[in-house]
Amino acid sequence: MKIYYYEDQKTWVLSTQNVDYALGVDRFGRLQHLYWGKSLKGIHDFPKADDLRVYCFESPKGYSREEIMPWGGLKYTEPGLKVTFANHTRDLDLVYDHFQIIGDAELVVSLKDKSQLFSIHLHYRVIENYDIIERYVEIRNEGTMPVKLEQVMGAIWHFPVFSDYRLTYLAGHWAAELQVRQELLQEGKKVIESRHGSTGHYFNPWFAIDTGTGNEEYGEIYYGAVAFSGNWKIVIEKTPFQTLQVAAGLNDFDFLWELEPSQSFTSPVCIGGYSDCGFGKASRNMHHYQQELIRPSLNELNPVLYNSWNATIFDVNEKDQKSLAEKAAALGVELFVIDDGWFGQRYDDKAGLGNWYVNREKFPDGLAPLIKHVRELGMKFGIWVEPEMVNPDSDLYRKHPDWVYHFPDRERSEFRNQLVLNLGREDVKQFILDMMDELMSDNDISFVKWDMNRYFSEPGWPEAPASKHKEVWIRHVEGLYEIWRILNEKYPKVTFESCSGGGGRIDLGIMRYADQFWVSDNCNAFDRLQINEGYTYAYHAKAMASWVVDGPWKSFKYRFHCAMMGALGIAMNLNKLTEEELDATRQFIQQYKEISATVQEGDLYRLLSPRSSMGAVVQYVNKVKTQAVVFAFRHIYQLSLYLPPIRLKGLDPEGEYFSETLNITRSGASLMNRGIEIKLNENFSSQLIVFQMSH
Ligand code: DGJ
Repeated sequence: MKIYYYEDQKTWVLSTQNVDYALGVDRFGRLQHLYWGKSLKGIHDFPKADDLRVYCFESPKGYSREEIMPWGGLKYTEPGLKVTFANHTRDLDLVYDHFQIIGDAELVVSLKDKSQLFSIHLHYRVIENYDIIERYVEIRNEGTMPVKLEQVMGAIWHFPVFSDYRLTYLAGHWAAELQVRQELLQEGKKVIESRHGSTGHYFNPWFAIDTGTGNEEYGEIYYGAVAFSGNWKIVIEKTPFQTLQVAAGLNDFDFLWELEPSQSFTSPVCIGGYSDCGFGKASRNMHHYQQELIRPSLNELNPVLYNSWNATIFDVNEKDQKSLAEKAAALGVELFVIDDGWFGQRYDDKAGLGNWYVNREKFPDGLAPLIKHVRELGMKFGIWVEPEMVNPDSDLYRKHPDWVYHFPDRERSEFRNQLVLNLGREDVKQFILDMMDELMSDNDISFVKWDMNRYFSEPGWPEAPASKHKEVWIRHVEGLYEIWRILNEKYPKVTFESCSGGGGRIDLGIMRYADQFWVSDNCNAFDRLQINEGYTYAYHAKAMASWVVDGPWKSFKYRFHCAMMGALGIAMNLNKLTEEELDATRQFIQQYKEISATVQEGDLYRLLSPRSSMGAVVQYVNKVKTQAVVFAFRHIYQLSLYLPPIRLKGLDPEGEYFSETLNITRSGASLMNRGIEIKLNENFSSQLIVFQMSH
């Protein structure tokens, strides 16, 4: 049992392996947060819901710690819910009604408004093994008139009182996504969000809180994430009384949802986790939770892919692609992917998007001959699409100019020469589904790279009833999820990649349907170390697509080692590689296949951050602890300093491990306590060290 209910105190305790999360009903009938932290012994250890702290010049109801903080009364912190009822009342007064335990891991606590026929159902799911609790909020209009929802969060978290709170989050921009940022919080609000329509490059919907002393191995880390691929918002609010509240969910910016009678609305799922062993454990728990519960793997490793985009850009044709495929197969590539340019009048990015039929000038007999060739070469075939977008210069747009978001009296802002299709519309959704279905059933496709290369603008839908106009932000994401869900169900063996001009759509929402993320268009391996590091704070390595590309940046080896830290892809122009380089590529691919199970599905340890001045070291250990893989990178060699000795993690202390590279056999205890010397003294040099348990 993971959920305990104590009737006399009207208190619930949700228990994971190491953590308790408690909530209870106070004397006003409000659902209060009581505790989140290391497991306690018994009910007497938890605070009572009525032990409310009283703050000067504040009502006890004001700075309370309600589980969802409805806006109303004397409450002024960021609301979890804000509504306007049909009678114009804009105050939500929620009191406890009943609860239900579903199975042994899900709790639903239901609240209702004191006077309106309006109920809220807080869902909690306990992920016992990973110290994670999923939450979301379901809102039901049980009255006879519509209710306007103005703000809907999936979770409000209240934190223990620390003397300092440090926030860790992921920020950046195109080609520099997911940079780790840390700051000590002062009173006031820090907001990370997207107002762009999609998850966005600027912030990722993940955060962590600690006292400022936590590191990879030590310290209590609380963290959370929003599983949503549209306008999301996380508000981190330190009050004047040194308490901390975090609200996470839908962005209230330009948001309005009219909830019809008898209808319900569901917030995105938010996940809250706790680690008592630093950021490293927090990440590993997230990684395994994702692989096992959000998107259970297809039971296969993500294959080594070749993508021809960097080699050919839009200049794709049957002959050249076949020739690249032959070269890729000879290197040991397992999946050949044709990127942008195979359809419509797509000779550059100015035209053709929306015309999803094969360009017969480039592929006179359709895609079948290329796919057949790829399959005969022993590889799978993958394809690029960008279905949410349209070039104004396309048959689709000429036929359906009303299918894009627009306001009738405004210019339609183009970006990358494209406009965004309105996926809230049934006809648009059906068009995309039919197009994808035809493409995937007519062709032997094993991999879909779904791209999305611009943010929203003029988010209007003039044909919809005026009261629904601001729903487009949500309806787009719902439409997108529905399409992906149907395609997932119909094509369960196909691997889906979420790409958005690099890492603009990486989140736990799309992860329910996507096996892989294109993390960044920046494939400079040195830069990528830092982007990948941020990515691994929140997401697992199996889904981290990494390419080796042409370019003057760093040695061949360095570029391979960097890309081998996730799902390896090759995107060099194989026509231009020397025999020696082709040979090296073949060997790296072979070496990757020997370690890919450990990299993709093992435990990941960040041993030296690329943000350090010296270099970066990342280690992976397989589940049975028989193989450990260490990637080490040197930044600039300066001041005659070697990399610090590296102490490995997660090994069997009794086991004996052999490394051919270092020519040593040492016990796990020695590797973890004495550590190893990594002698990398050349600027931008790298080393891959594999340890294999000998007995
Ligand atoms: C942006 C992606 O990030 C690239 O990998 C490539 O697929 C281009 N789009 C194609 O237009």
